Amino acid sequence: MIQLLPARILLLSILTLATLCGTVLAQDFPGYVVDPASSRGGLGKFYLGREISLVMGHQGADWLERPERIEQEQPDQVVANMGLAPDAVVADIGAGTGYFSFRIARRVPDGKVLAVDIQPEMLNLIEQRKAEEGVNNIEGVLGQIDDPNLPADSIDAAIMVDAYHEFSHPYEMIRGIYSALKPGGRIFLLEYREEDPRVPIRPLHKMSEEQVVREMLVFNLDWTETLDFLPWQHMMIFTKVE
Ligand SMILES: C[S@@+](CC[C@H](N)C(=O)[O-])C[C@H]1O[C@@H](n2cnc3c(N)ncnc32)[C@H](O)[C@@H]1O
Repeated sequence: MIQLLPARILLLSILTLATLCGTVLAQDFPGYVVDPASSRGGLGKFYLGREISLVMGHQGADWLERPERIEQEQPDQVVANMGLAPDAVVADIGAGTGYFSFRIARRVPDGKVLAVDIQPEMLNLIEQRKAEEGVNNIEGVLGQIDDPNLPADSIDAAIMVDAYHEFSHPYEMIRGIYSALKPGGRIFLLEYREEDPRVPIRPLHKMSEEQVVREMLVFNLDWTETLDFLPWQHMMIFTKVE
């Protein structure tokens, strides 16, 4: 921890400088590199030095609902830490089975959750559960690999849990989310900690805090904070500059 501290302060300083420059640099597309020969089992497509992973198929839906996930990822504490107003409109991007969507929906009784996914099978699972539980403030949205299909200026917050690292077009996805956010709206980005070798997840499904910040600050976003209470993940918060 003591050894890590100076590196973190250095990272903060560099990134603060990057944020200050962000107004000028925001939204410039850094480009993708396609290099299958360097692939470590992902898409063979790289964004700012990171290889993008393959998408988890809907056949893995049971894994998302595994009982031990409560302990490993503490979803209720995650949602409590989002500090949502009861009328907030929240997009859950890469919603999967709705593991987070249903929890968020309970917190926004006067608002709603837009559950975005590119796999119709996942959206069908969400519809089934909505009907079973009588939930009426979740709307499924069929996204595209390069567009969350959300109207501009329509959401207070977006959350991505264990999903962003597998977006094949991360720049276009964040561009779409950025445009959908109202000024002052927040992005909650949760990824398994790459810095921690004890987190038992395959490398391409993890991201370092430094890499997440590098990719988010392509846009005019403030890195508001990183919450470190989760056993396996970074919970990173970015705010759209007003
Ligand atoms: C590993 S699952 C995580 C699901 C959910 N967030 C959770 O924590 O349980 C990732 C999900 O992201 C979805 N996904 C991948 N690329 C996407 C994109 N460009 N737009 C929306 N969803 C995407 C996948 O279909 C999959 O359902």
